[in-house]
Amino acid sequence: QIQTRGYSMPTLHHKDHTAVGCQASVATKYMETDDIVDLDWENLGFGLVDTDFMYMAKCGPDGNFSNGEILPFGPIALSPSAGVLNYGQGLFEGLKAYRKTDGYILLFRPEENAVRMKNGSDRMCMPAPSVEQFVDAVKQTVLANKRWVPPTGKGSLYIRPLLIGSGAILGLAPAPEYTFLIYVSPVGNYFKEGLAPINLIIEDNFHRAAPGGTGGVKTIGNYASVLKAQRTAKEKGYSDVLYLDAVHNKYLEEVSSCNIFVVKGNAISTPAIEGTILPGITRKSIIEVAESKGYKVNVGHQELIGSTI
Ligand SMILES: Cc1ncc(COP(=O)(O)O)c(C=O)c1O
Repeated sequence: QIQTRGYSMPTLHHKDHTAVGCQASVATKYMETDDIVDLDWENLGFGLVDTDFMYMAKCGPDGNFSNGEILPFGPIALSPSAGVLNYGQGLFEGLKAYRKTDGYILLFRPEENAVRMKNGSDRMCMPAPSVEQFVDAVKQTVLANKRWVPPTGKGSLYIRPLLIGSGAILGLAPAPEYTFLIYVSPVGNYFKEGLAPINLIIEDNFHRAAPGGTGGVKTIGNYASVLKAQRTAKEKGYSDVLYLDAVHNKYLEEVSSCNIFVVKGNAISTPAIEGTILPGITRKSIIEVAESKGYKVNVGHQELIGSTI
């Protein structure tokens, strides 16, 4: 669905905001497109480029998030005793905005990220913004930074929502205050190979997630723990790590930051969502598109042997 309506730039202190309805895809009329940042768009990697604005909303013990504000991008203040710093009580999301040739900006299924954050917040004992609040906050942040959306075909504006236990807590318990924050950065391809195939190393020593753990939600703690295996893989010339299941050490799980599909002729197969892999929005979309194109999609245990990935 494409929503075509004019937006105005959010002001610096945009307090009186009312949530707007959420759409499967969101497009904004981009009439003032001439104002694009002068960057080396041909050589964008996946690194942080500081942009103009970020979004921030807070939530106290009542569980309700304040109306968020668009603020200048920059450092945030945290108590050394913040729950996120001491006990890793935090979630993040990742989605993208694209500039189309016809002058619109598109978001890819942002409400799916909102729902995933809500599901993760339950696992992490955190309150979460509503789906409408999340999608609206994403829209506000993208619009405030629209001059950083790369030209069509040159990349995308990566959007990084964060939900963190920002309140101070000493004993192990949920934090008394939470911060929902969104920042953005223009990016190119995640892997330096671009769309060319990448080499993955199968990891059978370290595991990313175990049954009953947090592999199925996008909590920050899932990521620091893969750095060691990822560093070893890169030292050996691989782009990333493909993890196996923690129980049998033989079924495919996922890569450090993406899901995996096995392709054999007209059939594509992917591991089931059983709590140890992230329910990727790309994965869900690929399944829907593949089925609509007549591919047979198998969802379940995938053994490594004889697979084309
Ligand atoms: C571990 C992991 N798996 C899969 C994905 C893919 O998720 P999505 O398709 O929603 O971006 C991500 C995304 O960052 C991830 O971190």
